[in-house]
Amino acid sequence: MEINKFLQEYFTQEMLPPLDRHLAGFYKKRSQWGKRDRAVFTQNVFDSVRYFSSIVLFEYAFARSEGPEQLFAEFDSREKMINAFLGIRGDVWGEWLKIFQGTKVKKSKRFEYYDFYFAFETIERHLLRAGVPPFYFASLQKRAAQSAWEESEFISFVQNLQKKSPLWIRCNKDEERVLSELQAKDYEYEQGPIAHSWCLKSGPSLKHLACFQDGCLEAQDLGSQRIGLNLDVAAGDRVWDVCAGAGGKTLQLASLAQGQAQIYATDIRDFILKKQLIPRMQRAGFDNFQIAVWDGKSLDQLEKGKRFDKILVDAPCSSSGTWRSAPDQRFRFLQEELPKIKEIQLGLLNLVKTCLDDKGILEYATCSFLVEENEEIVAEFLQMNPDFVLLEMKLEGSPKEDADTLFWAKFKKKN
Ligand SMILES: C[S@@+](CC[C@H](N)C(=O)[O-])C[C@H]1O[C@@H](n2cnc3c(N)ncnc32)[C@H](O)[C@@H]1O
Repeated sequence: MEINKFLQEYFTQEMLPPLDRHLAGFYKKRSQWGKRDRAVFTQNVFDSVRYFSSIVLFEYAFARSEGPEQLFAEFDSREKMINAFLGIRGDVWGEWLKIFQGTKVKKSKRFEYYDFYFAFETIERHLLRAGVPPFYFASLQKRAAQSAWEESEFISFVQNLQKKSPLWIRCNKDEERVLSELQAKDYEYEQGPIAHSWCLKSGPSLKHLACFQDGCLEAQDLGSQRIGLNLDVAAGDRVWDVCAGAGGKTLQLASLAQGQAQIYATDIRDFILKKQLIPRMQRAGFDNFQIAVWDGKSLDQLEKGKRFDKILVDAPCSSSGTWRSAPDQRFRFLQEELPKIKEIQLGLLNLVKTCLDDKGILEYATCSFLVEENEEIVAEFLQMNPDFVLLEMKLEGSPKEDADTLFWAKFKKKN
């Protein structure tokens, strides 16, 4: 099946599923496909989605002999972008894709236009080249202003979007064993900037490593590792990981307290706690935890009277900070959903704060660069809760580091 047909099927669904999940379902029906065919197809699909906006805008600008900037207003929603895509022929899509992947397409006039369009070093052209949909340009400009990014930082953020994300891992235990296995299997790796973090530049899937199967290491983005580290969890702490999901940070918190913290892990999704968090905690040998399904609507659904020294709200968000590894997030989250998601984020903070010990720490985190989900939530929370103070807040990862972009803020009660 050609890429275009796959994309048509994917983008015309009412609710866009995660691209990797959709691809897995697609391959299930094609058991005859070999490993290599799948790898090439996956790469082309991911690159097509990464550069989806770029290709649509470049092709329409090319066809009309205009600059792509003239089309921003016309393509200011996901729907308009997808409709425009449906009008592009498969062979033309393939040609642009090769150009974006860095292959010189012989005798292609489009190649000349690509060069011409890139000749201008404006922020808009950088954003466009990196596949940022025009309906996100204003949000990124807002982020740049909020973080006082220099132009070079802005460009480096955008350029990072075009690079393959490195795989960050964190060692739970037996670090020497992990490193010797990585070495024996010819992984290329470098030590990360925080304790127990390593950056894998290349190598096969981790799943086959014995040290992975024994729970000695976990894949966890560097920014995400910083969020867990920030909570300063110590042995004996009562910790609530409010949106624990698959348990990436739960495992880290348990590991930081050497299994000596009492962890309460909740999430709205029962199956993710049972199918992912519990097996991962067991594999790593952590048993000092309890799980509960919680939809964040009322504390009545939870055991009464629980108090915590540390609470982490790793909130549901636009996931805009993960666009590198999940390019489909550019289209799966709609900006119209922002008010609703902000309500959930603030609602979670306002409920869980009542369970914080007087000397406790409350940490809020997202994997988003959107100011609305980050600094604006912090400001609203502080305004609604004058008995709380902000200790610190920070945007982590890209553009400063080769990692996802994440945000965290830490609060405590006023004395
Ligand atoms: C950013 S993810 C958490 C990632 C996880 N902490 C980790 O490190 O692997 C956000 C989680 O919030 C959960 N969630 C979404 N809406 C929620 C709600 N209303 N109440 C509680 N959890 C919710 C989602 O199921 C998802 O697992």
